[in-house]
Amino acid sequence: MLSLIDKLEKNRCLSLDEYRYLIDNRDGTAADELARRAVRIRREIYGNTVFIRGLIEISNICKNDCIYCGIRRSNHSCDRYRLNPREISDCVDEGYSLGFRTFVLQGGEDEYFSDDVVCDIIRGIKNKYPDCAVTLSLGERGRESYKRMYDAGADRYLLRHETADRAHYNKLHPKEMSFDNRMECLKNLREIGYQVGCGFMVGSPYQTGAELAKDLKFIEGFKPDMCGIGPFVPHRDTPFAGEKQGTVELTCYLISIIRLIYPPVLLPATTALGTIHPLGREAGIKAGANVVMPNLSPVAARKKYELYNNKICTGEESAQCVSCLKDRMKSIGYEVVTDRGDIRKIERR
Ligand code: 5AD
Ligand code: FES
Repeated sequence: MLSLIDKLEKNRCLSLDEYRYLIDNRDGTAADELARRAVRIRREIYGNTVFIRGLIEISNICKNDCIYCGIRRSNHSCDRYRLNPREISDCVDEGYSLGFRTFVLQGGEDEYFSDDVVCDIIRGIKNKYPDCAVTLSLGERGRESYKRMYDAGADRYLLRHETADRAHYNKLHPKEMSFDNRMECLKNLREIGYQVGCGFMVGSPYQTGAELAKDLKFIEGFKPDMCGIGPFVPHRDTPFAGEKQGTVELTCYLISIIRLIYPPVLLPATTALGTIHPLGREAGIKAGANVVMPNLSPVAARKKYELYNNKICTGEESAQCVSCLKDRMKSIGYEVVTDRGDIRKIERR
């Protein structure tokens, strides 16, 4: 095990079998060793800083029907909403005064948010706050659409690949969704010039060490600027309601490995991680994550944007309580910084 960890740190890559071995044979000692090395390499690049992003959940209306997701179109118990451009810009104003310099506009695939509408919103933010980065997380769109939004000023795009295994992808998604299209979207985003984020859920149904090994191999090749991983958390109104939830332990283990595969990557300690354990996000940071994304959505919207049950969103983790977050990070030796928090591709070694 130790020699495998050495090899990973030295070469920044392993074979599929080796990744699988690392996952299937993990124990506390391996986890500590990976975390220690992940934290060391992150410190060389980012010091003890943690970046914050203001998350604005612009709509929970979604034309997709991902089996795991609480806002899937088949969930008729979901109380739907969308924010209008005015409400979004109010969130941004509030976030700016709280110290945020990156705004993440995230939403379901809602037809209302046409290219024209989204481009206007992006231009509005960039004109008013040229020192801020705009990140989009609006699902699958055509290349032309991605290009228009990029030209309007969007800097980054988050689109989790969800799983790098085609058969697994097909078990998590309805027939009309395609693994190839997902991958094509990521490729287009990259070519257009976005800083691109991929990612996956940990402990999703049917996932084993073999699928996770493929995710790691994919990340090794794609070298995403950002990578969002969080535990799968079942939602009561989905077909996966009775499935097991992912763990903090495995999520943190994978965070450390991903940091070692691609040291400059921006890795969030996700809301899902904070949801399944009160100190989940701290655990993520200690494993090698360097980003947190507090919620800036209007309070009424937050509960409705329920991808999974019991989502944390109104307490200490919200953007309004950024000072609590700062204290929490300080308590584990980290400093929350106010800047755009771009990827630093040059390793200071
Ligand atoms: N548990 C955890 N994460 C989820 N997501 C969607 N549903 C769930 C769930 N039940 C994640 C997906 C998606 C992102 C926006 O949220 O990975 O890409
Ligand atoms: Fe696909 Fe929500 S419907 S992630």
